[in-house]
Amino acid sequence: MGPRLIIVSNRVAVPDTPRAPLAGGMAVAVKAALKNRRGMWFGWSGKVSEESVGESQAVEVNKINYVLVDLSKNDIQEYYNGLANSVLWPILHYRVDLQEYSRADASGYLRVNRMFADRLSPLLRDDDVIWVHDYHLMVLGRDLRSRGHRNTIGFFLHTPCAPPDILQALPHHRAILGGLAHYDLVGFQTENDRDNFAHYLISQGATQTRTGYEFEGQKVRLGAFPVSIETKAYMRLARNAGRSAMVSLVRESLSGNRLVLGVDRLDYSKGIPDRIKAFERLLENNPEWRGRVTLLQVTPKSRSEIRQYGEIETEVTGLIGKVNGRFGDAAWTPIRYVNRSYSRTVLAGLYRAADVGMVTPLRDGMNLVAKEYVAAQNPDDPGVLVLSQFAGAAKELDGALIVNPHETDAVAAALKRALEMPLEERRERHAPMLDHLLENDIKKWAEDYLAALVGAQPARSLLAGIRALFGGQSDQAPLALR
Ligand code: F6P
Repeated sequence: MGPRLIIVSNRVAVPDTPRAPLAGGMAVAVKAALKNRRGMWFGWSGKVSEESVGESQAVEVNKINYVLVDLSKNDIQEYYNGLANSVLWPILHYRVDLQEYSRADASGYLRVNRMFADRLSPLLRDDDVIWVHDYHLMVLGRDLRSRGHRNTIGFFLHTPCAPPDILQALPHHRAILGGLAHYDLVGFQTENDRDNFAHYLISQGATQTRTGYEFEGQKVRLGAFPVSIETKAYMRLARNAGRSAMVSLVRESLSGNRLVLGVDRLDYSKGIPDRIKAFERLLENNPEWRGRVTLLQVTPKSRSEIRQYGEIETEVTGLIGKVNGRFGDAAWTPIRYVNRSYSRTVLAGLYRAADVGMVTPLRDGMNLVAKEYVAAQNPDDPGVLVLSQFAGAAKELDGALIVNPHETDAVAAALKRALEMPLEERRERHAPMLDHLLENDIKKWAEDYLAALVGAQPARSLLAGIRALFGGQSDQAPLALR
């Protein structure tokens, strides 16, 4: 038996049924990474108990082993709603103005990380390779090390990473961000994110070594690994999704109108108000498009107990009401707004049916909606992606119309250009993006990261380590991992 891969993340997408929808980008990516690999996925059960945690529960669904812990109300308040989502999330997304720090939340964050380490520790074998995901668990590596685990432990940050001046606005930042130095390899979405963190470490007195950085006696490597999607499977899903009753209903209900689609969690980082203003500007400046185009904004609610999330909801509903009141008529609603989430099949069908995919976050680690939109298109008659320059995906999807989401006129102009783009140009823009996604899919992301992670362990032979990790397929070259 070779090493197991132990995935740890706050959110764990255990399907209730084999066809249940998955939560967000991180969950989709992690699930694909674990597919066909021996190991387990450890994290929060999604349940909130009155008191502090009881037993961990182990479940196996679709050949994936999950080990889940409940969080108490207090944990949720201090760790999840508190430090993770009212401090780290806004800071990592460059929104220092939105952070609401408290010492109680910071100690709750450290407590829950310790609790994760306590729960995980007895389940670990010496040769397990551990891969921790996202900003909720920045100090888990340190907690595992302090419990004596010498395993290879990696971390991947799914969000952006802001520059040092912004990171330093986090009170006691060294106690939290410095925790990342206890991992063997910290992965980021883009080179920009990686460099921002490298500059932060240097600003805190780290020294650069031949392979990485040394900070407070810890050696850490940093790398950029743009997360991706299961491109081929997603193409297939979208091709077949036309059969979904919901997708047909939506298509019929448009009565020939062009469809612009936005799919985002309800989050201030997603730039939804700016997008609505740009759509309004399109209608304002181009009367010929009134009555002929519909924006469908699919926006599941998210982190609703946090004040800023309530505020963004009020802002979005107010803006949409204003545009619909101003331009709509009895037979046409310019913006359709839904707060529910749809199955992956329905979403894939909607992407394929949409003439324009609007992905215009103010800041986003990667944004897998952008990649899914490209993969879902009919290559013979593809739609156009309008993409924010501030999404990690913009570094790769250069066939999109790249916009600054803060510039309403420019986004409105890009929208008009997208709606009127000739077929030939649409194809020319789409084909290279699809090729890129076929080559750089989720499997490659996981392989690249894990190869670098295992290679980061000096005591281990790189090739032997990787071969063992993927089930002892000793005849496989390192880059043909499965
Ligand atoms: O890193 C960001 C992320 O994990 C996304 O991938 C995902 O969409 C979102 O956060 C989920 O947030 P939450 O777990 O708070 O619902």
